[in-house]
Amino acid sequence: MPSEELKIKLIDMVLCFSRALDLLHPEISDHHLRVAYIASCLAEELGLTPAEKQDVLIGGALHDVGAISSPVMTSLFDHALAHYRLGDANSPDDLHKHGEEGYILTRDFPPFAQAASAIRFHHANWDFGRGKEFAGEPIPLASHILHLADRIAVLPDANRNILEQAAEIRKTVGTDSGRQFSPEIVAAFDEISTRESFWLDIACQHKEPIIRSRFGDWEIGLDLETLEQLGKVFGRIIDYRSPFTATHSSGVAATGEALAQRLGIPFTERKLLRVAGYLHDIGKLTVPIEIIEKPGKLTSEEMLIVKQHSYHTHRILSMVPGLETVNIWASLHHERLDGKGYPFRPREIPLGSRIIAVADVFTAITEDRPYRKGMDRVQALNVLDQLVIDRAIDGDIVDALRADFGELLFIRSLSQQPTENSAAEAA
Ligand SMILES: [Fe+2]
Ligand SMILES: [Fe+2]
Ligand SMILES: [Fe+2]
Repeated sequence: MPSEELKIKLIDMVLCFSRALDLLHPEISDHHLRVAYIASCLAEELGLTPAEKQDVLIGGALHDVGAISSPVMTSLFDHALAHYRLGDANSPDDLHKHGEEGYILTRDFPPFAQAASAIRFHHANWDFGRGKEFAGEPIPLASHILHLADRIAVLPDANRNILEQAAEIRKTVGTDSGRQFSPEIVAAFDEISTRESFWLDIACQHKEPIIRSRFGDWEIGLDLETLEQLGKVFGRIIDYRSPFTATHSSGVAATGEALAQRLGIPFTERKLLRVAGYLHDIGKLTVPIEIIEKPGKLTSEEMLIVKQHSYHTHRILSMVPGLETVNIWASLHHERLDGKGYPFRPREIPLGSRIIAVADVFTAITEDRPYRKGMDRVQALNVLDQLVIDRAIDGDIVDALRADFGELLFIRSLSQQPTENSAAEAA
């Protein structure tokens, strides 16, 4: 499949990841997509260019990625929501911290550069114009748009009709004009919030088509290289959630590609396999962090929840037209050759999925984790060989791994080195 034939749109990848983030916490269901929608409407009303609107949309869709790490996630969202509902003018330090971490997590992908800057300061107050900069750095208008959009997004009470609440919300926002929010952006809100459809769109649970039809006119396609870069950024965010798996997806991506090369798979498929490796555990965003990081044995109920993650990987990635093959390779990584894996139990498991399955086990057992060292060659091959005997994984792929074990171990560990840009380091 030549790269020109990739038909994957940046907006679909962004909306799918935004939806995945919204599966993290019951309190924020729909929060990222809601902020993306509101911020885009504000940007439109303010007369921003299509490129600026696009940056605002991406910024809104991803704005709280820095808040998904385990120690702070739940309390941070509770805190942020309370803070916003109360209209507290002084943003606490932890709110600024997740803006900074979100910036670090997203800035390396060139099409996200402007959105990353907007995310960085999305909790800065306008402070009667002093909020145009922070410590000598200019704060982009897009940050102030996100700031107001975030507030509007959390104010509606889900138990009441949203149209009943419009006047109160307009009043609350107006009270904070100048102090928290730029008066220019509040004026844009006053204008768009006269329309019932604006409020009904906010309340609608199926926002992707609304956002796509109103703001998806920038149909930027991804080539193989940018898809790989984007997969890497998303993989890093997925991993960043927990130090237990801090670089796991990068390891699976690199090992999957290296195994594919040794099995004679052509270049394009190898690169797509790498993308599948970055995204294979995206469904884990639906598993509560207390379960992911539980020190002891999981109960059978918790185990059932963990086992659902590859189903969710499939559901999330199926939102992206053109990503079908990557989706199959990613979401069948817990299937077994004897049909006793989960959750689809297909009769045939495609080679790409079997490679990701081996790369996943190899990475999981050889990587160091905070609570244990990774296995050495003998131990790891014992585990893998037993899985082949049990008809769980593909013996030919394990043989390819065995033939070049040292090199694959090196590739895996190199891909998992923290980089100077890693947010985990900055945190
Ligand atoms: Fe935030
Ligand atoms: Fe937020
Ligand atoms: Fe998994």
